[in-house]
Amino acid sequence: MNSDLQKAVDQVVKDFAVDKELLIKATDEFVYSMTQGLKTEVPAKEYLPMIPTYVTGIPNGKEKGLFLAADLGGTNFRVCSVHLKGDHTFDLKQSKSEVPKDYMQGVEATADTLFGFLAAKVKEFLDEHHKDSVDAADEKLKLGFTFSFPVNQTDLNKGTLIRWTKGFDLPDCVDKDVVDLLQKHLDLLETNVHCAALANDTVGTLLSRAYSNDPEKSNAHTVIGAIFGTGTNGAYYETLENIPKLKGMVINTEWGSFDNTLKISPNTKYDKVVDKETANVGYHLFEKRISGMFLGELLRVILMDLFERSLVFEQLYKQRGGSLPHRLTEPWLISGEVLSYLEIDDSTDLKMSQLVLENHLRLPTTKEERLAIQAITRAVSNRAAYLSAIPLAAIVKKVKDQYKDCTKDFEVGCDGSVVEFYPGFQAKILEAVALIDPLEGSDKKIHIRIAKDGSGVGAALCASVAK
Ligand code: BGC
Repeated sequence: MNSDLQKAVDQVVKDFAVDKELLIKATDEFVYSMTQGLKTEVPAKEYLPMIPTYVTGIPNGKEKGLFLAADLGGTNFRVCSVHLKGDHTFDLKQSKSEVPKDYMQGVEATADTLFGFLAAKVKEFLDEHHKDSVDAADEKLKLGFTFSFPVNQTDLNKGTLIRWTKGFDLPDCVDKDVVDLLQKHLDLLETNVHCAALANDTVGTLLSRAYSNDPEKSNAHTVIGAIFGTGTNGAYYETLENIPKLKGMVINTEWGSFDNTLKISPNTKYDKVVDKETANVGYHLFEKRISGMFLGELLRVILMDLFERSLVFEQLYKQRGGSLPHRLTEPWLISGEVLSYLEIDDSTDLKMSQLVLENHLRLPTTKEERLAIQAITRAVSNRAAYLSAIPLAAIVKKVKDQYKDCTKDFEVGCDGSVVEFYPGFQAKILEAVALIDPLEGSDKKIHIRIAKDGSGVGAALCASVAK
């Protein structure tokens, strides 16, 4: 690599490094921010939202029955029916549809278009899989609604949207009750369905992993439900005495909003550019350093900076008569999946990356550029994984006393594309958790376990306890 490019890349790697000292300091700040958030009635920007979920217990695997679940969390909407068998197992039928971009944001996007679309998908699913049983039933079928955005929840099936995240922007939904919105459209379509519970995806993940987990076999208690996907967040069970404002229940931390005042988090010039491109500027800043939606955008912004400093893509720019491929110049067009290929490429001259960059981004590269891109990709993903360890370590620190009379390990039920598929991400989270050492002086371990279909099964479990 020529020395100017090498120097620039080294600087990026340095700026994205997260050391043990920062991890420990941020973990303590996270615990403080949780404690303050639990005391604060009106959410404040400096503390974690710590949203009560009205889920007052964790499943033990014996729950039974047929429930529906609808799951809106990112680019896809899923509808499933879950048959809980009462022995830690379940049967699941599901359909998945992409939410059209025009329903997520833009002039045409309104509460009615989005929720009308969701209700129509629920009806389609019922017509296909459960037509006779649902129509004939005396009671309405209970539906758990996984809605994975910050909601001010006031009961198991009541909650108003605080703000959109992850690229959604429909202003007329803010401050509205999202269960009412869905129920209104389910009723308009005359479905025999009652939206009985509202759950964040992290709550669903916690509940579904706790249902599948048999602590006697796994030797571990499920203590956290976490998502590392398009967005990031986590939920855990908090005891009564620690929630002055309420009774013991599962708390949705909304940790994407950790350190919104940037007291501790790394803040490179690239993070500032990415934040400015979002619809929720100044909020969810922790998420913008961690989750799948932002990894590709960070890489893109860094590459554009190197280009503007004449360090990469100069030849290409000339060859194209003064332009670069639009997937490089326009925000949000590099997916986390592309980074996962670049991350692990060990082929000669990074030939695999060459193909990936050409196929996914229409971007021809020199070997030197690919070496730079790989180093930057690793710096961005490494920082994301290390930062992801902070909330896990902090919550473990906070709940460990709940389990002080038990020798079992702790497990984190996880869902989301990044934690499930990004090469080495889980191992790096655990490496950073070990540096923080939240269980100092104990033999207990912390495990990461993927909760498959977490949000669907979890929402069904929420519906199962609803009236
Ligand atoms: C939302 C959370 C959600 C997380 C993961 C965040 O953007 O605010 O409610 O749990 O994404 O889907």
